[in-house]
Amino acid sequence: MKKKRNPLGRRKFLERSAVLATAPLALSWQDAATPSGSAAGKKRLAMVGTGSRGTGMWGRSLVEDYGDQVEFVALCDANQKRAAYAKKYLNIDVPLYQASDFVKMILETKPDSVIVTTTDCFHAKYVKLALEHGCDVICEKPLVTNAQQGQEILDAEKRSGKKITTTFNARFGTSSEEIKKVLSSGVLGRIISAEFQEYLDISHGASYFRRWHGKKQYSGSLLVHKASHHFDQMNWWLDADPEMVNAFGQVAFYGKNNAFRSTHCRSCAFSSDCQFYWDITKEQRQMDLYVACEKEDGYVRDGCVWDNDIDTYDSMTTEIKYKNGVLLNYSLNAFMPYEGQQIAFNGELGRFDIRIYHRQPWEVDYTAEYRLTENFKETKTWTTTSGAGEHGGSDKKLKDLIFLKDRPDPMQQLADSRAGVMSSLIGIAAYTSIETGKPVAIDDLIEFPLVWDW
Ligand SMILES: NC(=O)c1ccc[n+]([C@@H]2O[C@H](COP(=O)([O-])OP(=O)(O)OC[C@H]3O[C@@H](n4cnc5c(N)ncnc54)[C@H](O)[C@@H]3O)[C@@H](O)[C@H]2O)c1
Repeated sequence: MKKKRNPLGRRKFLERSAVLATAPLALSWQDAATPSGSAAGKKRLAMVGTGSRGTGMWGRSLVEDYGDQVEFVALCDANQKRAAYAKKYLNIDVPLYQASDFVKMILETKPDSVIVTTTDCFHAKYVKLALEHGCDVICEKPLVTNAQQGQEILDAEKRSGKKITTTFNARFGTSSEEIKKVLSSGVLGRIISAEFQEYLDISHGASYFRRWHGKKQYSGSLLVHKASHHFDQMNWWLDADPEMVNAFGQVAFYGKNNAFRSTHCRSCAFSSDCQFYWDITKEQRQMDLYVACEKEDGYVRDGCVWDNDIDTYDSMTTEIKYKNGVLLNYSLNAFMPYEGQQIAFNGELGRFDIRIYHRQPWEVDYTAEYRLTENFKETKTWTTTSGAGEHGGSDKKLKDLIFLKDRPDPMQQLADSRAGVMSSLIGIAAYTSIETGKPVAIDDLIEFPLVWDW
């Protein structure tokens, strides 16, 4: 991972912007022809990254549940076997493209929007190319994994006049909405500080260390890959921008912290000794999506959690100072016996505690409990349960807002490029702080446009 701090300083940014402002845009398909063969009014979609999230949340679900609003016109992936599986899984008849033919795909199939669901570190490359060739972009989080990518896609979005939507489904969870409502009510007065503790368990947490997420070069570490959800929520809940970040992180549980290891579970000599042994052969979708395609690119989905090369931190703590003065204390541990979150806001008029339950070895008949305590008054508690469907119903709410016409967005839950870049930047500042041992100023990482006018 690059250790260079502030890859685009202010002077360099201004020089670059001058060059970019005069550079012609590449040919857009809209300059060339009008799309034909498209059912009237349907949004034409292409997807790059036909893995689990792409084929599930954005693939089959759009075909089956939003088919009167959208249609797929092409699929693209670095792994052609996986792309072929995706075509079959989605039950659609569209051309497949190699990663190197991404631009060709846009020019030939003329999508209105490109859905980007690749490995994190490649999002920015495809976002930029899609914008430059006349498409809007719907991109999974994290939008970027380093600051230079952030600068490049913000520049590209501004030049293109097209739009990036960052798909922060976490904003749409029941507890996330509840927190937004309480904070917006003003009951705590001015917020002075906040706490966010993320617990990932030995199932979900461990899964990141079996996959590409365990290498920082692909995921930007969990501070970007996972915590970008939480940093985005905080930015949105507080309606504020981060200013300074200081962090510590370590690989203290997975990776080299074990006496034995293998390349992956299927070939492991220690399968009966390892508590983290996972038999992927028992899960047909995983076999179709990954095992059947692994000869193409060598990617094994059931990688060893004890791989010596794992460098994604499994334990990390971060301090963030916001521009409005709020001090946030954030921690993430990925080897917990249970999963969930503990969040709190300390205001001048009281404190708001939130405990969110995802999976734990004791019973609760709700998914979040809240305690609102106003100074010199009584304390109030209540609970909520999450909705049905993927990610507690939040995936559907997000898709409805993106694809159904004239849906109101009173809480401003649909996130744009600024929110996407800003949340990634906190994680980027945090891993930079861990690598350099110094606090990092967000404004030193990127130059946001002074006026957000497009
Ligand atoms: N918001 C959420 O709740 C949520 C949940 C899961 C995943 N995600 C995001 O979705 C994205 C995909 O995650 P996933 O779990 O589906 O991963 P995955 O590994 O299953 O899929 C990634 C796909 O990208 C392809 N790919 C890799 N490099 C490429 C390249 N250079 N060009 C083209 N294709 C390339 C891979 O072959 C694979 O098919 C990630 O960015 C992840 O952060 C979001």
